Amino acid sequence: MTLSHTMSDSPLFRPLAVRSLTLPNRIVMSPMTRSHSPGGVPGADVAAYYRRRAEGGTGLVVTEGVAIDHPVAVDNPNVPRMHGDDALAGWRRVVDEVHAGGGRIVPQLWHVGPLWGAMSRVDPMLVPMRPSGLWGEPGVTSYPDRYVERALVPTEAMTEQDIADVVDAFARGARLAADAGCDGVALHGGHGYLLDAFLWESTNRRDDDWGGDLERRTRFPVAVVRAVRDAIGPDLPIVFRFSQHKQQDYQARLADTPDDLGTVLGALVDAGVDVLDASSRRFDLPVFDGSPLGLAGWAKKLTGAVTCAVGSVGIGKSLRESRATGAAPTLDNIGELESRLAADEFDLIAIGRLHLADPAIASTLRAGAPLPVFDRAVHEATLT
Ligand SMILES: Cc1cc2nc3c(=O)[nH]c(=O)nc-3n(C[C@H](O)[C@H](O)[C@H](O)COP(=O)(O)O)c2cc1C
Repeated sequence: MTLSHTMSDSPLFRPLAVRSLTLPNRIVMSPMTRSHSPGGVPGADVAAYYRRRAEGGTGLVVTEGVAIDHPVAVDNPNVPRMHGDDALAGWRRVVDEVHAGGGRIVPQLWHVGPLWGAMSRVDPMLVPMRPSGLWGEPGVTSYPDRYVERALVPTEAMTEQDIADVVDAFARGARLAADAGCDGVALHGGHGYLLDAFLWESTNRRDDDWGGDLERRTRFPVAVVRAVRDAIGPDLPIVFRFSQHKQQDYQARLADTPDDLGTVLGALVDAGVDVLDASSRRFDLPVFDGSPLGLAGWAKKLTGAVTCAVGSVGIGKSLRESRATGAAPTLDNIGELESRLAADEFDLIAIGRLHLADPAIASTLRAGAPLPVFDRAVHEATLT
């Protein structure tokens, strides 16, 4: 008897084990800030929202960015936090719902660093955490001019005490997440936020142990990863999101060469990262001349670690382009995705906007059904 070809034969639906976590398929919900947690507490609506993605067959839910316990971690009171009894009770409910729905969940721990003040007006007496007091060289950015003007005023560079406090806050957040039943932790190390601000030479001009060449600029994220690994022990996976681009400048680059990229990512993996989550606007966008490999492909080639690609699955416009428009055009790039997965270019695929348009996107893909259409005005506005 011959079996007909179905999407369940697809490399998207092969299981994968990472430390103690077994994923039934390769589909990850990409972290997406939703700002629906008043006072930093995720409520029943947030739990139900994540449960729907678990029930929809998503292999791993990575939550929206979650504030660690530091005074200038996140400047939006509707972003959830991973500290305080009320918020932790909220997370236990989220985790229980996701598990009851058959899923697995890791929170994305977040410190915005230099981008403090970008989401809301902030107390001018609070000093943002910036490696060298700098916001970064502005380039192609979506931020309004008046914010950028304010943000360009230099502030105090982080002190040794600041650095130690933030490392501790990440470790505490990770431990609290593990205690709440999370299946691992993710760290936001991209997009110009704090961890990335140490990596980027435009924001890190330090001449002490935490600055200098790329190897030295990687020391702070490495210290955070080590502290998180110590805090959660050997069983739970650590996912680390990194990016070439920064919110301050979409054209900025973390690494100009594969060697540079290998320096950063190799150190992170040695420190305890299990999954390198390569944030890019298109999963199939080449990064270095002379090779079709995307950012996740390079991460895997350079380190051998498990890697996750992301960007424009099923959508013909990148996140930035789709911000300006209504419905984004559908693009059937699922075949391209499957062939890159089948070739082991990367191991996992994170899907962002289509997870907002269709909570059951994993089941939709498995059934080979038509792709949903993402419309920002509809799908970003509510927590459906
Ligand atoms: C509403 C929204 C909020 C986002 N918030 C975050 C975030 O908190 N952390 C993060 O790392 N990326 C964030 N992103 C980026 C997504 O995780 C993803 O990388 C991006 O949308 C590209 O994937 P897509 O083309 O499948 O949407 C956000 C994206 C959207 C649409």
